[in-house]
Amino acid sequence: MTADTEIPAKIRLNAVNKIFTGDRGKLVALQDINLEIGESEFVCFVGPSGCGKSTLLRIVAGLERGFTGDAEVDGSPVNGPGRDRTVMFQEHALFPWLDVLGNVMFPLKLKPGLTDKERIEVAHYYLKLVGLETFERAAIHELSGGMKQRVALARALAPNPRVLLMDEPFAALDAMTREQLYGDLQRIHAARKKTILFVTHNVREAVCLGDRVLLFSPRPGRIRHEFKVDLPRPREFNDTALAALSRDITNELKTILAV
Ligand SMILES: Nc1ncnc2c1ncn2[C@@H]1O[C@H](COP(=O)(O)OP(=O)(O)O)[C@@H](O)[C@H]1O
Ligand SMILES: [Mg+2]
Repeated sequence: MTADTEIPAKIRLNAVNKIFTGDRGKLVALQDINLEIGESEFVCFVGPSGCGKSTLLRIVAGLERGFTGDAEVDGSPVNGPGRDRTVMFQEHALFPWLDVLGNVMFPLKLKPGLTDKERIEVAHYYLKLVGLETFERAAIHELSGGMKQRVALARALAPNPRVLLMDEPFAALDAMTREQLYGDLQRIHAARKKTILFVTHNVREAVCLGDRVLLFSPRPGRIRHEFKVDLPRPREFNDTALAALSRDITNELKTILAV
């Protein structure tokens, strides 16, 4: 394949550095990040707390100012949040005064050219996709943690962003609920072909979901290693090949962190 015919990267980070200046001086949150992510690729960022995973996600989201280097989405510099990207966090951040349907419809209110009827149809589509079609009138406080994250996922998907940025979205959930959501997310990724950046400190979760797993190390936050995951999909969290690769990656991570 020549350079002319290569498909351009969906997301491109070139020599990205981010320094926070606080009371205790300067902290290099990210150092020399170079990364290309293809359309529909699912990339997981793994590493211990404080290695800059969230900061990098926020840079791509357009929420972080004052970094150096280039961050591009679809060939254009990121200079603020955009409708082409949505973010989902560990805390669901749903609006408690709106019901399930109201939460999923909320971002659609900002989308021009849709009638109310169309907004409801779109919200129904995504509620069905996350398996909550019978809960549209439920109040947020009535839902389990897993259901809340499903609503948050439907809300993030509803504006039909091309890029989904997920920051430890399942970290607060119990193991069984998490495994169900791995299945849901794989199904949604296959159906909707999003480009997904997914932050986790759980190696096995990253291997279950990602096309690639990037290992970060802290102080300064850097990408230290990259693993391609060539396992067939859909992937079972307890699959033996998946467990074996997770073990290799965990060992590599230990080596990186030991030095
Ligand atoms: N707004 C901020 N001001 C000062 N330091 C920050 C800020 N946000 C993050 N940091 C620091 O930058 C480093 C990377 O943080 P973060 O991206 O949240 O790491 P991770 O998500 O991998 O845990 C940490 O040391 C953190 O304390
Ligand atoms: Mg974080």
